[in-house]
Amino acid sequence: MRSFDLTDRVVILTGAAGLIGRHYLPALADAGAIVVAADRDRAGAEAAIAELDARRALAVEVDLTRRESVREMVLDVARRFDRIDGLVNNAAIDPKFDAEHQGEHGLDFESLPLDQWQASLDVNLSGAFLCAQAVAPLMQRQQSGSVVNISSIYGLVGPDQRLYEREDGPRQVKPVTYTVTKAGLIGLTRYLATYWRGTGIRANTLTLGGVFNAHDDEFVRRYSARTLLGRMAQADEYNGALIFLLSEASAYMTGANLVVDGGWTAW
Ligand SMILES: NC(=O)c1ccc[n+]([C@@H]2O[C@H](COP(=O)([O-])OP(=O)(O)OC[C@H]3O[C@@H](n4cnc5c(N)ncnc54)[C@H](O)[C@@H]3O)[C@@H](O)[C@H]2O)c1
Repeated sequence: MRSFDLTDRVVILTGAAGLIGRHYLPALADAGAIVVAADRDRAGAEAAIAELDARRALAVEVDLTRRESVREMVLDVARRFDRIDGLVNNAAIDPKFDAEHQGEHGLDFESLPLDQWQASLDVNLSGAFLCAQAVAPLMQRQQSGSVVNISSIYGLVGPDQRLYEREDGPRQVKPVTYTVTKAGLIGLTRYLATYWRGTGIRANTLTLGGVFNAHDDEFVRRYSARTLLGRMAQADEYNGALIFLLSEASAYMTGANLVVDGGWTAW
């Protein structure tokens, strides 16, 4: 088990206040890591580390769409802890598919406003680019580091829009921005891994399937039927894969994509 140990490794997790981010934090801390919970939702980031040892967990407010904000975050972490061993690009805009989040005009491809397209690219892709760019000099000096980009099954295959259709409600759509940005992260990973060859920095993608989040029964039934394991994931079921990618246990892995999706993409 020693190869999975993260003792004193400093790990920045973006989107830490979110549904899955909140579950990564205690798992990383249990593995020994010093965790930096980065989110534009400061209160959410603080709440996410509230149960952790205050000397080994830090909440940072960051707006990933602004280069200066990302740089300040990374400088702050470097000043406090003197090193950065892991970066997890987990933050994302992932519009929920209920009527409230679909907006007045829905998320149909034909009418999706350019500003919504841009906003998703800014967070999901450019945010990861800016973070990777900002941690690179320190990781290069250390000659070690692990960058993990969080993708989705919808970055590998297109969304099955039938899951989101309802006979009795307004039209619901999983937007094009999600697939495009999640596919883009897989390309970013491969680029970083090849660009950083020989530097000691590794980059990998962790691709996730859908997590149960109080979805309606109809959705859960349809979604579950598309997986081989017959169910949605629980929010803590990706912790092991993330610890693996951040630790020495994955020392011979770079430029790869670890798919943890209950079998969604196997057929
Ligand atoms: N939830 C799922 O079922 C699922 C499935 C597959 C992949 N994923 C991926 O896992 C990751 C986490 O998903 P989640 O469900 O926890 O998401 P979430 O929507 O619950 O959380 C996203 C977090 O990102 C933060 N964020 C958004 N814009 C930001 C910005 N400009 N600057 C800083 N922070 C910002 C939000 O404040 C939020 O806390 C995402 O990359 C998502 O694509 C999720």
